[in-house]
Amino acid sequence: MKKVFVKPNLTLFDLSSNEPLFSPKEVLEGLLESEKRLSSKFFYDQVGSDLFQKITELPEYYLTNSEIEILHNNLEEISDLVGENAAVIEFGSGPPLKSRMLMKAIKPSLYLPLDISKSYLLEASKRLAREFSWLQIRAICVDYTRAFQLPFDPEKKRVGCFLGSSLGNFNKSKALDFLIRTKKFLGHGGELLLGVDMKKSAEILNLAYNDSEGITARFNLNILDHINQLCAARFDPANFVHLAGYDENLGCVQMHLVSEVDQKISVLDTEISFSKGEKIHTEDSYKYSCKEIEGLALQAGFSKSVSWFDSKKYFGLFYFS
Ligand code: AVI
Repeated sequence: MKKVFVKPNLTLFDLSSNEPLFSPKEVLEGLLESEKRLSSKFFYDQVGSDLFQKITELPEYYLTNSEIEILHNNLEEISDLVGENAAVIEFGSGPPLKSRMLMKAIKPSLYLPLDISKSYLLEASKRLAREFSWLQIRAICVDYTRAFQLPFDPEKKRVGCFLGSSLGNFNKSKALDFLIRTKKFLGHGGELLLGVDMKKSAEILNLAYNDSEGITARFNLNILDHINQLCAARFDPANFVHLAGYDENLGCVQMHLVSEVDQKISVLDTEISFSKGEKIHTEDSYKYSCKEIEGLALQAGFSKSVSWFDSKKYFGLFYFS
């Protein structure tokens, strides 16, 4: 673990020196499966994180604005629930506006943003540290989808924030595993603020993942550039196209990259063949009903839920204790 004092109120803990965040072996294993896949965590190099930020500003991608609307209307109640002197742990340092709104209202004694992209994490944390000089920030670069331990004990009530519907990027059994692990991680008295994209019409969902400016397509295709750097591979993104669609039976938007030609690509000295039309699965984005998400949290050992919704009921914020 590397510890860097960035500013008087900002320290960076880099857990990636314990275990690499992006493993080339994992890439190869996914590409050798009969249905080729790449984990969606490979989206988030610096370019991918910037593109995701752009997605959150798109009119079709209603998720972020809906969540901001909920936060805006219910901040007082949320900060009463969190209480004073808490350590707020944010899984994935998402759009800065949401973190700023939360910090301003909650005024925690400690803020711990966790993110897999070190440069994005550092940039976002520096901005917050500058704006809120009273706020102690300990930023942690880690893959929070795996089990990990904090490199120190905050000795305060731990409140987790998992916003933006990122839980939806886990399949149902991984989502349950994550919630069970998080419950344990937050410890006795720990609480969780969870942002969830609710089930809705396929039409709205398909637009959200196929925006007219093609930013989501660029975000999806950028995974190949990241893999090229990580694995000395030679993917040509121009030979693939973005595909995203809502599967009502699964309750999930699935993203793929489709090969436009027959091609062979060397990845870590292994040749991978693609036939024209063959797909690489890059992301699942599950949508939930209230009953489903509350049931899952209950199964993970959380109790009592307060929930808030935006005016269109597209998005939900749930507070579990
Ligand atoms: C980060 N995550 C919640 C986004 C989602 O909606 O599943 C990632 C994303 N993929 C395409 N657009 C946005």
